[in-house]
Amino acid sequence: MARRADRLEALRATLGQHAPSFAYPVDLSNPDHLHEVVQRALRDHGVPDVLVSNAGYGLYRPFAEHTAQDHRTLMEVNYFASVWLISAVLPGMIERGSGHVIGVASISTKMGPWGHTGYSAAKCALVSMIQTLAAEHTGSGVDFSYINPGVVRTDYFEQPSFSTLRDQMRKRWIEPERIAEGVLSLLKRPRLELCIPRHYRVLDWLGAISPALLHRLVRSQSRPKAESRRGPLKRTTPTDT
Ligand SMILES: NC(=O)c1ccc[n+]([C@@H]2O[C@H](COP(=O)([O-])OP(=O)(O)OC[C@H]3O[C@@H](n4cnc5c(N)ncnc54)[C@H](OP(=O)(O)O)[C@@H]3O)[C@@H](O)[C@H]2O)c1
Repeated sequence: MARRADRLEALRATLGQHAPSFAYPVDLSNPDHLHEVVQRALRDHGVPDVLVSNAGYGLYRPFAEHTAQDHRTLMEVNYFASVWLISAVLPGMIERGSGHVIGVASISTKMGPWGHTGYSAAKCALVSMIQTLAAEHTGSGVDFSYINPGVVRTDYFEQPSFSTLRDQMRKRWIEPERIAEGVLSLLKRPRLELCIPRHYRVLDWLGAISPALLHRLVRSQSRPKAESRRGPLKRTTPTDT
């Protein structure tokens, strides 16, 4: 599932060389459309063995420059779409006594980075929901996991708001195949959380010892270089303009 039908069809054709594959174009920020498409997919194929809720997008700009609509859409795509997808498949997985729900969150859930207020909050909501679902469904046969990727070389950074950060991030890029391998490893050995690269788990340790130190580290890594010269931004209330 994704919006761009042409890219989806190309991917479906590639995957179709290995196994039956189906594409369902949908805008995840539109709950009615999502509901209709998910019901169609469930009618066509039944309850899936695995749900990977991966679609998402970020915005890189200070809080004062997020509009109210930015906050709403970030939540719709990065959080609510997972709520609706999980709601649609979970009853069938529980009834069958097997299934695996995997959400793709972000390493930004460990400590909010500069410029990610809407995105980071939505990913924290996703992580928290999956943790709670895991607590509620222990012994049901359904596994729950979330992946916290670091910086991955994808179109994510092509979003115009990332123009000031893109170059800074290049040196930490990992290839997207690492995330696909992570999904496979979770299917073989279910775990609640997977950080990719794994050494980012040190952030948990650092945050436990000194949240202030972790904050300073993440802030310095995520702030655009120009911003350090520009100084603090004027705060405003988010509006739709
Ligand atoms: N790249 C990173 O460094 C990084 C780091 C941490 C977490 N993540 C997370 O990893 C996941 C995958 O992102 P990516 O890095 O692969 O970025 P990407 O290349 O931009 O892919 C995002 C995917 O989400 C789909 N999508 C976005 N908005 C959508 C919408 N409204 N409705 C339906 N589909 C939508 C896109 O397809 P269409 O545009 O065709 O709809 C695309 O397939 C996201 O959840 C992202 O937040 C990425």
